[in-house]
Amino acid sequence: MNILLLGSGGREHAIAYKLVQSPYCSALFIAPGNAGTANCGTNVALDPCDFPALAEFVQNHQIEMVVVGPEAPLVAGVTDYFRSRADLAHILVLGPDRAGAQLEGSKDFAKQFMQQYGIPTARYQTFTADTLNQGMAFLDTLKAPYVLKADGLAAGKGVLILSSLEEAKRELRNMLLDAKFGTASAKVVIEEYLSGIEMSAFAITDGKDYLMLPEAKDYKRIFDGDLGPNTGGMGSVSPVPFADVAFKQKVESRIVRPTIDGLRLRGIDYRGFIFFGLMAVPSPDGYEPYVIEYNVRMGDPETESVFPRIESDVVTLFKHACQGTLSQTSLSIDSRTAACVMMVSGGYPDHYQKGYRISGIEQVRDSLIFHAGTAFSADGGIVTCGGRVLCTTSLAPSLREALAASYAAADSIHWQDKFQRHDIGQDLLQIVETN
Ligand code: AMP
Ligand code: GLY
Repeated sequence: MNILLLGSGGREHAIAYKLVQSPYCSALFIAPGNAGTANCGTNVALDPCDFPALAEFVQNHQIEMVVVGPEAPLVAGVTDYFRSRADLAHILVLGPDRAGAQLEGSKDFAKQFMQQYGIPTARYQTFTADTLNQGMAFLDTLKAPYVLKADGLAAGKGVLILSSLEEAKRELRNMLLDAKFGTASAKVVIEEYLSGIEMSAFAITDGKDYLMLPEAKDYKRIFDGDLGPNTGGMGSVSPVPFADVAFKQKVESRIVRPTIDGLRLRGIDYRGFIFFGLMAVPSPDGYEPYVIEYNVRMGDPETESVFPRIESDVVTLFKHACQGTLSQTSLSIDSRTAACVMMVSGGYPDHYQKGYRISGIEQVRDSLIFHAGTAFSADGGIVTCGGRVLCTTSLAPSLREALAASYAAADSIHWQDKFQRHDIGQDLLQIVETN
């Protein structure tokens, strides 16, 4: 079948890499893609949120399946658009409709949902400008650190973790009265701080059944030792050594199953990925999973270590999810460890330059390279065009070997002011090697 993949990051390159391995993929188009996805299919200069333009392309190129990478088109209703037009309703779209996408698009919706279905998450309350005083009083009942979350999408920046009560009160006022995050902070969720280890779990669902994809851990801060500002993600590792069978059973029974049942009970026809951002909180009984956030798409850079571990045919998998027949299939997963090291533009996540020539990619033989922010220059060379530029992913029998291979590959790639973390996976190595 002909497939259209929406998005342009490392996540989309990793999905494209798997899609074109399938004998069922006759042609792959990526809108808009990057210099890496151009090796997997044809990049098309379309905005993933311009639905009429996507529809025209789909009709002109006999596309049978649309795979949605990022959240923006989902929250804006790309799936609703295709389902609502009679001439497009036969096209399979992998990704929830607008109602389902609220799990990510509104923190308040997600918290209410979890509360209603008894899904473990931090205690919380939601406030608006009209209830600012109650918000201040709620902060008085909590202990530091204080967690404030803008309700809507704020480009990954809408969560503040503050160590003092005064600061928390000042920021609450900024968010509600001074629109610190624009309309995204017209409502603010205040929640209890959970202390533990963060990790990401992923399910693909057809709205009734689900299959778990491999879990992963990502590294969000810019500097070694988890210091400095948050980024989109500086690397990832899959599997996560402390996520043993008992922990994963708790995740499925307390979180994944109730989430999918809750969506169905609310009449939401959810076909796509669910990303569970988890906090594993230590207890006498091992780790207890809590949901920090839902996303309605795969993680980036988690996909760059999760997808290379999927051995099954992903076109078949995606088709079953879209057609409501996921119970007829299963997943085969590579037992090796995948480690991904992201390389970024100097200055990221603040100000950075674009357009630097990238060299050394062709020297990498034993690792995968997934492009995130790359483009072609006029002479056909590859240049930087984003904060996160590209990553190396390696599969190996042990985490130590996978990390060594990804770092060796990263060392042979160059551009001006290239930056990367040097401690991806080190925390997990300690867990693996002390057990
Ligand atoms: P979110 O966008 O909801 O994933 O939040 C961004 C980051 O803030 C998360 O990845 C966590 O590191 C942190 N965070 C969010 N909520 C909490 C919480 N309740 N307790 C501790 N850390 C949190
Ligand atoms: N890596 C975190 C995310 O994709 O949101």
